[in-house]
Formats: sequence, structure tokens, C-alpha cells
Amino acid sequence: MSLNKKTRIAVFVSGGGTNLQALIDAAKRGEIPSGELALVLASNDKAYALTRAAENNIPSVVVKRKDYADQIAYEEAVKAVLAENGIDMIVLAGFMTILSENFTSAYPKRIVNVHPSLIPSFCGAGFYGLHVHEAALEYGVKVTGATVHYVNEIPDGGEIILQKAVEILEGDTAEVLQKRVMEHAEWILLPKAVELVAKKLQA
Ligand code: GAR
Repeated sequence: MSLNKKTRIAVFVSGGGTNLQALIDAAKRGEIPSGELALVLASNDKAYALTRAAENNIPSVVVKRKDYADQIAYEEAVKAVLAENGIDMIVLAGFMTILSENFTSAYPKRIVNVHPSLIPSFCGAGFYGLHVHEAALEYGVKVTGATVHYVNEIPDGGEIILQKAVEILEGDTAEVLQKRVMEHAEWILLPKAVELVAKKLQA
């Protein structure tokens, strides 16, 4: 058993929060021993992820981009919330607000993102949520998957931590594929990657 203090993790969310739920469930099973889910930060107050946080006694905060005059003012407000909460590591779990280099450079190798494709396919600007799966189906690839990677100034361009492939089946719709990628890849990979990074940050 480690005597180190657990890495304090903030999970950034915008929507349903099924990846947040996967982290909560993994933590309950003892699969994230190096980290503690210390804060949920949502980009909007309608995010169902906030309900998941409340149900699991995780403090949460809503910080909306539109409440700030510009990107820098918004990012400084987010940084202040993180500092107040003693956050060591950030997980982007379906977080749909852009973070610029001003933000990402403040947390080198401390921000991870889950993306629903095998990077470098179907990633970068404009590829988020269901659009990623629509693009994979339109291209006609037979295999897709999910990637957890470090976040830097290049959208979906940081070092890859874990990847898992998922088959595309005849007749798949974007919604069906999204669900398969979540169940078979994202919800498995994200807790594993979070533990790997949280453990490194403890050392
Ligand atoms: C997930 O599929 C996640 O990989 C994706 O948004 C969904 C959020 O679902 N993220 C991106 O597309 C980021 N580029 P969730 O709120 O249920 O976790």
C-alpha cells in the first residue's frame, strides 16, 4: 500500500457523464487506488453528469464559457477553481468546451481525454460525440475504438496512453456504434488510464 497522498482528480463534463460513471464505479471497486475523484466541473448546469456527482457525494461546480469576456478569463476562472480544490489531475470525459494552450500548458501530462475513435483517425477539430461515429460509418472503416491520451495544445494530438479497438457491424447506426464503443472500450479504458496517470503523479 502506498503511503502517498492520493492524486486529487477533477473530471470535466458536459453531458450524460457515462464516462464519469465508469470512473465512479471503478473507484468503488477499488480500481483507482492512486486517485480520488475530488471534483466534477461541468460546462453547463443541465449536464446529467452533475446528478451523478451529487448521487455519489462528489463536489461539483459549473463554469460556463459564456459567463466570461474571453477565453483567457474563462480559463483563469477554471484554474482558480482547481487551485481552490487542490486538484492535481484533470480528466476530460465528454467535455465539449475548448481549452487553449494557456490552460493545457499549465498542466503538462496532468490532463487526459477520452476520445471515441482510434486516433489519428476521426479526431481533431469538429470530431466530437456522435459526429465521430457518423464519420467512421461514412468512411466505411470496419474497425474503430477509443483512445485515452494526454491533452496538449493540439486537439486530440497529445501522447496516447491506451487504445482499444471495436468492430463495426453491418447495419450499425451512429447511435448503436457509439454505445458499443462506450461499453467495449471507453468505460474500460478510461479508469485504467486514470489509475496509470494518477499513480505516476503520486511518485
Ligand atoms: C464520449 O463518447 C466521449 O468519448 C466523447 O463524448 C462522449 C461523452 O459521453 N468525447 C469526445 O468526442 C471528445 N472529443 P459521456 O458524457 O456519456 O461520458
